[in-house]
Amino acid sequence: MKTTFKSLTYLFTSSLLLFSCSSSSNDDLNPQVMIPVPIEKITYDNHIKTIIDDNCLQCHGNPTLRGAPNSFVSYNQVRSSINNILNRLNSSSNPMPPSGQINITLRASVQQWKDDGLLEN
Ligand code: HEC
Repeated sequence: MKTTFKSLTYLFTSSLLLFSCSSSSNDDLNPQVMIPVPIEKITYDNHIKTIIDDNCLQCHGNPTLRGAPNSFVSYNQVRSSINNILNRLNSSSNPMPPSGQINITLRASVQQWKDDGLLEN
């Protein structure tokens, strides 16, 4: 009985949430506006390394390839270039990677990492 009540409560709450979402104005649904706020601290080891590895190291590896001027394989290399990295991540006319901007959630994580003080771990 108790479980059933919990499930019902859950269902009820979920439908309330769904309802409130579907009745939002269009502005709230604009993906450029919905930047999720991460709950935990962003660190290089837990978040940033994967983003760089997946999107940058095919050129900014060690050795560098395809004309990339520098490596981003270590914490110190990424940290010391953070301002240039953020500029290029967010540039729409000259983005990095050159194939096009990575999604806004990943870019927001890199910004948040800087705002949190560029923690290594
Ligand atoms: C397909 C190869 C390639 C990929 C993938 C790539 N880059 Fe680059 N990157 C280059 C080349 C070539 C240059 C030099 C020409 C230029 O600046 O556009 C460069 C230059 C840069 C620069 C300017 C030089 C500097 O260090 O200040 C930054 C910053 C940068 N890349 C960051 C990144 C980041 C961050 C990623 C991943 C999100 C990335 N790049 C992915 C090829 C790449």
